[in-house]
Amino acid sequence: MDVIHTIEHLRARLKSEPSIALVPTMGNLHDGHISLVDLAKRHGRCIVTSVFVNRLQFEAGGDFDRYPRTFPADCAKLEEAGAHVVFAPDEREMYPTTQEIAITPPKVAEALEGEHRPGHFQGVATVVAKLFNIVAPDAAVFGKKDYQQLRVIRELVAQLDFGIEIVAAETIREPDGLAMSSRNGYLTREERAQAVRLPQNLRRIGDAVEKGNADFARLTQEAEADLARHGWRVDYVALRNRTTLAPPGPDDRELVLLAAAWLGNTRLIDNLEITR
Ligand code: PAJ
Repeated sequence: MDVIHTIEHLRARLKSEPSIALVPTMGNLHDGHISLVDLAKRHGRCIVTSVFVNRLQFEAGGDFDRYPRTFPADCAKLEEAGAHVVFAPDEREMYPTTQEIAITPPKVAEALEGEHRPGHFQGVATVVAKLFNIVAPDAAVFGKKDYQQLRVIRELVAQLDFGIEIVAAETIREPDGLAMSSRNGYLTREERAQAVRLPQNLRRIGDAVEKGNADFARLTQEAEADLARHGWRVDYVALRNRTTLAPPGPDDRELVLLAAAWLGNTRLIDNLEITR
């Protein structure tokens, strides 16, 4: 496995690769990330994983400075997973001058995370566009864990004609159901015990909707109230159309339930696809 820090070296390394699959990450890798690497193997011969904590997508006062950086351990996991190249630029390599040009995110970015994290998807879309230009992959793998991000990336590729196949990976969970996330490491023991309530509430709504309950507003409000009662600060629990992420019409069958909520200083997100 080659660990490469500059764009010039990376381009030289990838020049004669016939097919490349990219897995973009911010490091602190867990089994969720590794499942993306495994899936990437089916979509390209050379697997490139990028590790870059992208300041542009963190809001002022966010957790950029305390975001966990565990590069040696990440490389060990990637080597074991069979990645061929790790691209780990520093900030000067990715942003040698002020990044004045930015991607305006599509409509699908406006609600939900877009409302609660202004500027976040602009930062994500901009760095992902840069990574696509740097790596020039045939395919790129993204997790459904960040459901709205995946929708934004699909629009980015379609609307700017990147010609890259976007592959979606299922969410990998801890045995109790909590979605794996680098931010889970921030949780105290008490908070970690409480965290499972987020997927549990999504499951409860999902079961009710699949059984025919169509009172979406009430179901999501009950989940928000349950979380609040147990000390959470809820940003949203919302049932949406899976493609547009707009509130579902009466005939929409392919839905996704999305949630974001805080336990102490840690913000967790999760989602569940529902078919009715
Ligand atoms: P990061 O949070 O490191 O996630 C990298 C990729 O791993 C994303 O596609 C994310 O959806 C996926 N992922 C995270 N947790 C997962 C889980 N439990 N199961 C399956 N996949 C999971 O997302 C980012 O980084 C950044 O925004 C990035 C796209 C790299 C741009 O900076």
